[in-house]
Amino acid sequence: MNIAVAGTGYVGLSLAVLLSQHNSVTAVDVVSEKVDLINQGLSPIADAEIEEYLATHELDLRATLDGAAAYAAAELVVIATPTNYDSDKNFFDTRYVEQVIELVLEVNPEAIMVVKSTVPVGYTKELTERYPSGKFLFSPEFLREGHALYDNLHPSRIIVGVPSESAYAAELESAAQEFAALLAQGSLDEGTPVLIMRATEAEAVKLFANTYLALRVAYFNELDTYACVRGLDASQIIEGVGLDPRIGGHYNNPSFGYGGYCLPKDTKQLLANYSEVPQNLIEAIVEANRTRKDYIADEVLDRVTHLVYEGVPQPRVGVYRLTMKTGSDNFRASSIQGIMKRIKGRGIPVMVYEPTLNAEEFYGSVVTRDLDAFKASCDVILANRWSEDLADVEDKVFTRDLFKRD
Ligand SMILES: NC(=O)c1ccc[n+]([C@@H]2O[C@H](COP(=O)([O-])OP(=O)(O)OC[C@H]3O[C@@H](n4cnc5c(N)ncnc54)[C@H](O)[C@@H]3O)[C@@H](O)[C@H]2O)c1
Repeated sequence: MNIAVAGTGYVGLSLAVLLSQHNSVTAVDVVSEKVDLINQGLSPIADAEIEEYLATHELDLRATLDGAAAYAAAELVVIATPTNYDSDKNFFDTRYVEQVIELVLEVNPEAIMVVKSTVPVGYTKELTERYPSGKFLFSPEFLREGHALYDNLHPSRIIVGVPSESAYAAELESAAQEFAALLAQGSLDEGTPVLIMRATEAEAVKLFANTYLALRVAYFNELDTYACVRGLDASQIIEGVGLDPRIGGHYNNPSFGYGGYCLPKDTKQLLANYSEVPQNLIEAIVEANRTRKDYIADEVLDRVTHLVYEGVPQPRVGVYRLTMKTGSDNFRASSIQGIMKRIKGRGIPVMVYEPTLNAEEFYGSVVTRDLDAFKASCDVILANRWSEDLADVEDKVFTRDLFKRD
């Protein structure tokens, strides 16, 4: 099949690689550096499987800046461009998805468009009303950054949503089956559960799944806050709690808060979708994350105050990595930035160690790529995730990474 993929970020590139094992795929982006790298067989993002597949597997894949030509030649267009939610303005920003849709409708109105970007509940139905000649499907994406291709090679489930309101609903129903089969064909697993449902339910699956993950992070973080305030050993409590098989010992490592590109935006999006629907919990999840960051920042400020009492004239706080997870090259909306903002707001100087950042400053703080200089010049070092890099300055480190894993 001739497939175009719009957007070569975590979602688009992993799908482009997956699908190009058995189909002819053209990946489209608006950033020429990304297109050039992909055409040289190099990955623009840190992802072991994408790097390996681009370098060593036989893929029918090319990248281009020319969306019109790619979409005109495609039977199927997978849309994986960014979306955003601004909670201050209560505004869902889906403009980059619509840019692609309008171009596809101009050059190839017959093409099936599969939206993979995360969108508000009811969005595909709205698309069907706004562009009645368009053939849309929505397929939620569950990958994790840093494991983007791995998660598509070993999918937990494949879900494709069909807008039942569309004039093409019957054609789209079989296109949904076909798309699910393409994803399964590219994967390494047999028997992955496939669910075909209405698009609105499929959109809800994505937001409820991410909000559950945020809930779990927030829960273990609040358990940790309780233990810290009461002087208890949080790791013993978490281990004891997790041995109940209904709870489980996974995804329970405390942190500075949930963060990254998806959880903060998707929880707030779901909360906005609840307007006029009774709820307490969804709002509490969003609030709990703020409270956790306030608590962590207060703890760090306490340490700074103690250092002043001990005679350090102006203690400096170091931020060890802006990234959310070990092995990631992405620091969009990472929780440590929330802590950093709160500390800087109190006038404390902050220095950032982030080897992937090619800049001298980050929001007014000095950035260094020299680890030794960083360790020497900071009095307290914040690390959302522990690293052996910090072993020689362990007494300066503030982390809640109790189990030394993601
Ligand atoms: N990152 C994740 O872990 C993840 C997981 C599941 C779902 N999602 C959702 O998938 C969507 C994409 O996420 P991502 O992390 O891959 O984003 P990303 O920012 O890494 O990549 C998006 C890419 O789209 C490109 N782009 C923007 N406008 C374009 C256009 N008009 N035509 C072609 N390309 C264009 C950008 O240059 C960028 O390379 C978002 O809605 C996100 O919420 C992300």
